[in-house]
Amino acid sequence: MKYIFGNWKLNGSLKEIDKFEKEFSASQMPKNVKFGLAVPFVYLQKMSQIFEKKCEIGAENVSFANSGEFTGEISATMLEDVKAKFCLVGHSERRHKFGETNEIVNQKLLNLQQTKLKTILCIGETKDEFEQKKTKQVLKSQLQKGLKNASAKNLIVAYEPVWAIGTGLTPTAKIVEDTVLYIKKVLNQIFGENKILVLYGGSVKPENANQLLKSKFVDGALVGGASLCAKKFVEIGKNSI
Ligand code: PGA
Repeated sequence: MKYIFGNWKLNGSLKEIDKFEKEFSASQMPKNVKFGLAVPFVYLQKMSQIFEKKCEIGAENVSFANSGEFTGEISATMLEDVKAKFCLVGHSERRHKFGETNEIVNQKLLNLQQTKLKTILCIGETKDEFEQKKTKQVLKSQLQKGLKNASAKNLIVAYEPVWAIGTGLTPTAKIVEDTVLYIKKVLNQIFGENKILVLYGGSVKPENANQLLKSKFVDGALVGGASLCAKKFVEIGKNSI
C-alpha cells in the first residue's frame, strides 16, 4: 500500500474544486494506493462531503491553542467538527515563513492527538544543512522535539528536504530510502515500534514518482504543486507502486 497525500497550500477555489473532483472521480484509481488532500480551512467541510471515501480530506495547519482569545485561529476540535481526517504540522513553509519552532509544532501535534485526526509531522533539512552533512542530526532533533510527550497513535511522518520543496530538485532515490530508514530507526527509539508510516515530499511529479517512491520502505508521498491537477495526482499514485 502507498499513501499519496496532496498539499494545496494557498491555492484553490470553489470552481477549481469542482473541476478537480470531476477529473479525480473520472480517473481509474490504482489499486493499493490511498489518497489524501490537505486543503485550506474554508474548503474542508465541502471537500470532506464531496470526496467521502475516495480521498481523505485534511487541514494544512492548526492552532497551538485549544480555545479562547486567539483571534483568527482554528483548533484541532474545530477541524474534527468539520470532518477533517488529518492535519499537517511542521511544514517547512510554516517553520520558515511563519517562524514556527519545534516547540510550537509539538504543541499543535499534542492538540491533534487529543482528537481522532491523524497528524502528518513534516521534517527536513535546509540546503546548507544537507551540504554540511547535518541531515541526520537535524531530523533527529526535529523528531525528538516535535514528538515530546506524543504517542505513536495516528502519527505519520513526512521527510521533506527544504531545498527540494517547489524547486524541481530532488535527492536521489538512494538518499530518500536511506533517510526514510534512518527516520524509522529514530521513531523506533522514541516509541519502541516501527509501524509509523514515513512519506517523502519535495518536487514529486508523475515522471519521478516511481524512482523516488518504489522502495518498500518509503510508504508514500506528500505532493505540493502536482496535487493541484487531479490527473497528475492520480498518475503519481499509479507510478508509486
Ligand atoms: P512540492 O511541495 O511538491 O511543490 O515540491 C511539497 C510540499 O510542500 O509538501
